[in-house]
Amino acid sequence: MAELKVGIVGAPRGSSFIAAIGAVTETELVAVCDINEANLNRTADHHGVPNRFTEYEAMLESGIDMVVVSTPMSLHVPQSVAALERGIHVLSEVTAATTLEQCVQLRDAAVNSSAKYMLSENYCYMRPNVLVKSLVEHGLFGEIYFAEGEYVHDVKFLHHTADGKPTWRYYDQVGKNGCTYGTHSLGPVLQWFKEPVVTVSCVGSGIHTDPEHLIDDTVLMNCKTASGALIKIRLDMMSNRPHNMAYYSLQGTKGCYEASRGFGDQPKIWLADHSEKVEWRSLYDFADEFMPDIWKNPPDEAKRAGHGGGDYFVIREFVDAVLNDMKPPIDIWDALNFTVPGLVSEESIAQNGAPLPVPNF
Ligand SMILES: NC(=O)c1ccc[n+]([C@@H]2O[C@H](COP(=O)([O-])OP(=O)(O)OC[C@H]3O[C@@H](n4cnc5c(N)ncnc54)[C@H](O)[C@@H]3O)[C@@H](O)[C@H]2O)c1
Repeated sequence: MAELKVGIVGAPRGSSFIAAIGAVTETELVAVCDINEANLNRTADHHGVPNRFTEYEAMLESGIDMVVVSTPMSLHVPQSVAALERGIHVLSEVTAATTLEQCVQLRDAAVNSSAKYMLSENYCYMRPNVLVKSLVEHGLFGEIYFAEGEYVHDVKFLHHTADGKPTWRYYDQVGKNGCTYGTHSLGPVLQWFKEPVVTVSCVGSGIHTDPEHLIDDTVLMNCKTASGALIKIRLDMMSNRPHNMAYYSLQGTKGCYEASRGFGDQPKIWLADHSEKVEWRSLYDFADEFMPDIWKNPPDEAKRAGHGGGDYFVIREFVDAVLNDMKPPIDIWDALNFTVPGLVSEESIAQNGAPLPVPNF
């Protein structure tokens, strides 16, 4: 008998975690919920899930210990709050919330619950990002003061259903202007800086591809951290172009890093303490000495998992936190630190890039 009975709400994205739930022996997937019966049955049939629900509250009352919330973004908070109020552990998809009011509701529910909350920011677990975090923690970049994160993914094809109806992405992601989906870029970078963003200034390129949407084709969110460091986040879900899954860079007083942009490019790094000349080396030259254990000998399931292994590690690490009563690696405060700057950016871009304070939760 597994120690944690898991339910998933939102079958399409939720099914990305089923292999990980199966591989983590302390968990068992017992239920799936989706209001779309075709999506529900496809996932439950394919994976042999015993219990199916079209009503979320009914699944919460069915005896599950943990829920993976993988529904449209504006539902993450109401569904997370409903679970936390029942003492059910929550692993929530990104972003944590879609309004500042929701952030307050989520914070209050997480603080008052006996259960744990984690944001499933899977990009934090990508192999290069985990290694860069370790190098920062070993002091090899010196004092860090500039970073970039980019999510450049043409997802126009997801904005309407096959029969032409607008999807949730049409409203939550591109139906407003600003850095509406920034946590994949900002999350890993904030794990390097270990301090929150205090000011945001956001500008955009204007709309050139599809006038039906309100988001600028490219949005730039400039973030200042408490110590004065600068983080530049680019979000582009509209431009006509091939996909680059993610890009990051980091600059410190003793080193710098530039991620791969794909197409044969390699992640490259220069660290003053490890180079006689000022020239690039492969990031992975440093893996033997500095790669954290989770990526040293990853299980096959992690190597097979989507998003560079992230879809495995979010489950593995959250289950460890729950069973050992530890702080989840991306807890409620991290979730808000990753999410709130993007919400403030919506007001900043409306004010032509005015620098605005980011509320401290
Ligand atoms: N971390 C990542 O890499 C990543 C990747 C893809 C999607 N996501 C996130 O996953 C979430 C879902 O994205 P998607 O692409 O799977 O969307 P989707 O539209 O394909 O699926 C959403 C599902 O939620 C169901 N749903 C809607 N309202 C519901 C309700 N009240 N109760 C139960 N089910 C309900 C829908 O019927 C649908 O099946 C989003 O938050 C998105 O940001 C994250």
